[in-house]
Amino acid sequence: MSITPVPRIAVIVVAAGSGTRLGAGAPKALVGLGTRSILHRALEGVFAGPAAQVVVVAPAGHEGTVVTEARDAAADRRDLVTVVAGGTTRQASVAAGIAALWGDVEIVLVHDAARALTPPAVFERVFAAVAGGSAAVIPVVPVVDTLKRVAGETVTGAVDRAEVAAAQTPQGFRRDVLETAYRVASAEHTDDAALVAAVGHRVDTVAGDERAFKITTPADLERATRLVGRDAVAAAPRVGIGTDVHAFGGGGALWLAGLEWPGEPALAGHSDGDAVAHAIVDAVLSAAGLGDIGTHFGTARPEFAGAHADAFLTRTAELVRAAGWAVGNVTVQVQANRPRFSPRRAEAERILSAALGAPVAVGATTTDGLGFTGRDEGVAATAVALLIPLG
Ligand code: CTP
Ligand code: MG
Repeated sequence: MSITPVPRIAVIVVAAGSGTRLGAGAPKALVGLGTRSILHRALEGVFAGPAAQVVVVAPAGHEGTVVTEARDAAADRRDLVTVVAGGTTRQASVAAGIAALWGDVEIVLVHDAARALTPPAVFERVFAAVAGGSAAVIPVVPVVDTLKRVAGETVTGAVDRAEVAAAQTPQGFRRDVLETAYRVASAEHTDDAALVAAVGHRVDTVAGDERAFKITTPADLERATRLVGRDAVAAAPRVGIGTDVHAFGGGGALWLAGLEWPGEPALAGHSDGDAVAHAIVDAVLSAAGLGDIGTHFGTARPEFAGAHADAFLTRTAELVRAAGWAVGNVTVQVQANRPRFSPRRAEAERILSAALGAPVAVGATTTDGLGFTGRDEGVAATAVALLIPLG
């Protein structure tokens, strides 16, 4: 049995707001963002960081749903999750989170669930600054708009943009500093750093991130949904297809599916005419968006003239790996009257799989006497490849 040490760090994720400005008819944290809720996305970022107690402050009456969401996002860290009900203001919700901190916690990060796409690097920067001696740290981003001081509808003065920054979360604190600030707070403040500053502590800054924006309005949710969709596409597997045909009539022995077939008529073609290997190469390269067999193994590459399947497949696997892909698997189907495949299918699959570094399945069929394969004029092969993004 492994004993998980009690963490020194806690992240309080406040998710108890009603989401009035979003107007989605449900508490904001439970509103969908792509295929997950805003809260689930926010917690995925939290759990990607160092092991910490994670206190999720739930909208009152929704604690059960929040426990389910939090445990799902936590995966094997579910023992580190605490769920409490929030209050009527953000400050009251944070206070409820503080009251649930475990005894050993020394550093506390307070995070808005509404900043659902905050990258793990922001958590790391905030944590590192507190661990390095700061009492209070906030992530900030530069303000891009020109700022004006106004009274009603009139501009009364300019604000120097260099003197301001936009504050994000997670905001990090020494636990004793945060607890004291909340104990003595007499006014409502807009963020936790303001409470801590009100009791006289210096607040330091680290770089925030554009992706840590707060989902407040329907337009913000649309922006977040677009970003999540882009990530999902980038992380999705890709498929490719390849076909190849060679006519009988070459010199020497038949080479097909990486095997030599003594006594069978040879195929004609650049290299050994192995239609199975060439279909696999086209399927894999097309899935990676790397062109086709002619791009990498054409007649301009004399070292592949007469080469067999292993040389083609080994090189193809190198090319796609360099482009950020691993081959998941390949299936290839041969259409031919001969050779008879079934006695050597396992042997062919072993050789092709070893060369490609991924499972290759080979099937064969005849075409009931129809077409060029039915007339014994040649061999056709069709391959489908699945690629998986690396990292
Ligand atoms: N929050 C909270 N408890 C509250 C109010 C807010 O835990 N009583 C949390 C929200 O869930 C959110 C974060 O504080 O993650 C920032 O608040 P905000 O973006 O204002 O969210 P809502 O208050 O839900 O939205 P609105 O102000 O539009 O109602
Ligand atoms: Mg609010």
